[in-house]
Amino acid sequence: MRTDLAQPVRLADYRVPDYLIDTVDLDVSLARTATRVVSRLAIRPNPLGRPGVPLVLDGEDLVAKRLVLDGKKLAASAHRVTPDGFTLLKPPETPFVLEIETEIDPTANLRLMGLYRSGSAYCTQCEAEGFRRITYFLDRPDVLSVYTVRIEADRADAAILLSNGNPRKAGTIAGTDRHFAVWHDPHPKPSYLFALVGGNLGSIHDTFTTESGRAVALGIYVEPGKEDRAHYAMDALKRSMRWDETAFGREYDLDVFNIVAVSDFNMGAMENKGLNVFNDKYVLASPETATDGDYAGIETVIAHEYFHNWTGNRVTCRDWFQLCLKEGLTVFRDHEFSADMRSRAVRRIADVRTLRAQQFAEDAGPLAHNVRPDTYREINNFYTATIYEKGAEVIRMLKVLIGDDAFRRGMDLYFERCDGTATTIEVFLSMFEEAAGRDLAQFARWYHQAGTPKLHVILDFDDAKGELLIELEQTCPVTPGQNHKEPFVVPIAFGLLGSDGSALPLQPVDGCLSEDEAARGLIILDERRRALRFGGLTERPVTSFLRGFSAPVRLDAEADDEQLAVQMAFDPDSFNRWQASQTFAVGLLLVSIAGIRSGRAPYYDAAYDQAMQKVLDDAEQDPAFAALVLSLPGEADMAREVGHDVDPGAIHVAREALKAKLGEALGDSLLSLYHKLEDKTPYSPDAAAAGRRSLRNAALDLYAAGNRLKGNVLAQAQFAAAANMTDKLAALSVLAQTPGTARDKALKAFYESYKQDALVIDKWFALQAMQPDAGTLDHIRALMEHPAFSIKNPNRVRSLIGAFAAGNPTQFNAADGSGFAFVAQTVIELDRINAQVAARLLAAFKSWRSLEPARRDLALQALQSVANTPGLSADTADIASRSLA
Ligand code: TRP
Ligand code: ZN
Repeated sequence: MRTDLAQPVRLADYRVPDYLIDTVDLDVSLARTATRVVSRLAIRPNPLGRPGVPLVLDGEDLVAKRLVLDGKKLAASAHRVTPDGFTLLKPPETPFVLEIETEIDPTANLRLMGLYRSGSAYCTQCEAEGFRRITYFLDRPDVLSVYTVRIEADRADAAILLSNGNPRKAGTIAGTDRHFAVWHDPHPKPSYLFALVGGNLGSIHDTFTTESGRAVALGIYVEPGKEDRAHYAMDALKRSMRWDETAFGREYDLDVFNIVAVSDFNMGAMENKGLNVFNDKYVLASPETATDGDYAGIETVIAHEYFHNWTGNRVTCRDWFQLCLKEGLTVFRDHEFSADMRSRAVRRIADVRTLRAQQFAEDAGPLAHNVRPDTYREINNFYTATIYEKGAEVIRMLKVLIGDDAFRRGMDLYFERCDGTATTIEVFLSMFEEAAGRDLAQFARWYHQAGTPKLHVILDFDDAKGELLIELEQTCPVTPGQNHKEPFVVPIAFGLLGSDGSALPLQPVDGCLSEDEAARGLIILDERRRALRFGGLTERPVTSFLRGFSAPVRLDAEADDEQLAVQMAFDPDSFNRWQASQTFAVGLLLVSIAGIRSGRAPYYDAAYDQAMQKVLDDAEQDPAFAALVLSLPGEADMAREVGHDVDPGAIHVAREALKAKLGEALGDSLLSLYHKLEDKTPYSPDAAAAGRRSLRNAALDLYAAGNRLKGNVLAQAQFAAAANMTDKLAALSVLAQTPGTARDKALKAFYESYKQDALVIDKWFALQAMQPDAGTLDHIRALMEHPAFSIKNPNRVRSLIGAFAAGNPTQFNAADGSGFAFVAQTVIELDRINAQVAARLLAAFKSWRSLEPARRDLALQALQSVANTPGLSADTADIASRSLA
C-alpha cells in the first residue's frame, strides 16, 4: 500500500513555545489573485522556553517578498525561507520586531483554508492551521497575541472590510478608488481565531445591551438581497447572548459582534473573535426556503459559535489534543441552550439520535479515538463526533455526578482562573475537583479510553421475598491500540415501575445504594460489576435504566414486550418512553432481519402496533415527542444493532416491511391525525408549531408506507398546496419513495420553483441521492453534470455525494460494489481540490469492517484504490490508512 502519511504529532512531545508573539500588526491589501500581506510581529524569547534556539515559523503555499528584522533587511545567511516555513537562525536574545511581506492568491485557494474567495467576497478560515497560509507565524493555539489589522481594497471590489475586535479607523486613500479600515482586538488570541472579510455584502443590524449595561452593535452580513433571511439568526444571537449571562454568568466583551455568511465553507461555522464566519446554510432562513429543522440548526449553530467566546476564545486550548476542551464543552452548552429554548425531552432525544448515529458508529470502527487523543497526523480529521458529541456527553455526566451547584462553581472557577490562558483537560477537571471536593481521576478515563462501553443488566425477581436482584456489568470493546480498558464511572439514572405504570419507591436492601444515590435515583457504577437488591415489591417491576440517557453507553437489558409497552405508556422519563418504543422496534427488526437472511418472510408482532396506537391516542399532548416515537429506528441504527456480518439489503427489506405493517395497522388514526393537525395559520418557526408539523408529516409518511396509493394522493395535494418548505419537502420525500413519472414530475416542479436558491437545491440533491432504488447511482452521476452542481462547493458535495455515502445504506453498500467504487473515485477527484472535505467523505467507510464478507471485500478494494493513489493529501491518506489498519 502506498501512502503519503505525515509524521504523527504526539501529545507526549508537547513543549512550550520557545518564542512568544505579543502583538501582530497586519496590513492586508486585498486583490483577487495577488493579495499582499505585511505582518509586523513583536517577538520575545519565552522565559520558559529554550534560550537561543532558532525561531521556526509555520508557512504553507506562501511567497515571501520581504523580510526585515528590527528595521534591517534580513541577510540571506541569517534565515531560511521556503513556501512552507521560515527559520531565523540566531534570533536576538531581547525582544525584536520581525516584518514579513507575503503574497497570496485567494482565487486559487480551493481548499478554503486561509484567505479565499467565496462568491464575490474575500474571507478567511484559520482553524486549525490556516493562518500559516496567510503569513509565516507560530501557528499554534498557545501563542496569544493582540492583533491590529489594516485592510485595504478597491471600494468597488470590497465596500465592506471587517476583522476581529473593535473598529478603530476607516478612510479613503486620496486620489485612488481604494479605501481602508483598521480593526483592533484587545483580547490576546491564538492565530486560529483570526478572521478578515471583504466584499460587497448586504447586512442587518441590531443592538444588545449586556447585563452590566454595555451596548454591543450586532451585524449580520449576507449576500446582497438575502438580508430579510437573516432575521431569525439575529434573534437567535440575542437569545444566546442573554442565555449565556443567565445560565453561566458570561457577558460579551467587545463593542461589536459581527457574523458573515458565506456560501463556500468547509464546516458549519467558525467562532473567530468578534467576527464569526458562517456557512450560509446556518444563517439564512425564510419559511419558503428553510425547514423547521433548518431553523433549529441555525439556532444551535449561532449559539454554539457565540458560546465559544468564553469556551474557546477567552479560555483556549494549549494544543490541538485539547480540542474537546472547547468543542465538547461548547456543544454541551448549545445543547442546554436549545433545551431551554424548546422542549428539553425532544432536544435530548434528537441529540442522542445524533450521538448514536455518528459517534457510536465511529467508536465501533477503525476510526475510533479518545475524546482527548494522544496522537494525530492531520488535525483536520479530528473534528469528529467523538470530540464534539461524546465530548459533550462527558461534560453532561460530570454535571450529573457532582450535581448542578458544584458544576456551576467549577465552571465559575474555570473562567476565573483560566481566563486569558491556553489550557488543558487536566486543568479543566481540577476546577471541578476543587469545587466538588472530589477526586476525578477515574472519571477522566472517559477522556483517555475510546470505545462505547456496554452495560449488561441481569435481573432476577424473588417472588417469596418481594425482592429484585440487579446485576450490572460494564465491558468496553477493544479499539485501535487499546486492548485493555479500565472501568469507567457510569452514572445510571434509574427507576422502577409497577405493571400498572405507577412509579415505585426505591427500597434498597442492605444499604446497597448510598443515601444520595437512592434520593437521586442514580446508580453510580464505578467498578466492573455491581449487584443491587430492591425490596418491598409485590410483583416483578418494570425497570427503567439510563433515564435521560445519563451515560453514553449501550444498554443490554432484558425486557419483554409487555414491559416495554408499560414503559412506552408510563415511564415518567420521556427519554425512556421514547427509548422503549425504539427497543421494541429493534427487537422485532432483529428477528425479522435474521429471518429474511434465511429466506423467511419479515416478522411482525401485533403487540407493537397496540403499543404504538396508545402513543397516537395521546399524540396531540406533545406532538414533537410523538413524531419522534413514530419514526422507526433507521437502517444505520439497525446495522449498529446487528453489529457484525451486516447485510444492509436485508435491513432495508425488514424495516420497510415493519413500516408498511405499522402504517397499515394504524392507518385510520394516522389519517385522522393528519387531517386534524392541518394548520391554516401563517408559518412560525417556534417549537410548538414545528412540533405539530413534524407529527403531521410523520403521520403522512407512516400512513403512506402502509397505504401507498392513498398516501401519495395526500402527498400530491400537500406538495401542491404547501406554503412552507417543511411541508413542501415532507410531501416531496413521500412522493420520491415511489419511482415513476409522478416522482419525476414532482422533482422537476420543485427544481423549477427553487432553482435560484442553492440551499434549496441542496435539499433536492440530497433527497434524490438517498433514494434506495437501484437507479440512484446512475442518477447521481447525471446530477454531477447538472449546472447546479459544483465539486468545488462543499455544500453541493455534501448534499449529493455525502448524502449518498452517509444516508443511502442500500445503494452505498450495493452488493456489486458500485457505491463504494463511486465514492472512492469521487474522493480521489475531490482530494486534489479540497482535501479536508475529501477526507471527511472517505470517513463514510468507517463501518466497512462490520459488513458481510462479500461487501467487506468490495469496500476493502475501494479503500485500497484510494490509499494507492499517488500524491494523496495528508488528510485523505490519514483516513485511508487508519480505515485499513
Ligand atoms: N471551531 C469550529 C466550530 O466547531 C469548527 C470549524 C469551522 C473548523 N471551520 C473549520 C474546523 C475548519 C476545522 C477546519 O465551531
Ligand atoms: Zn465549535
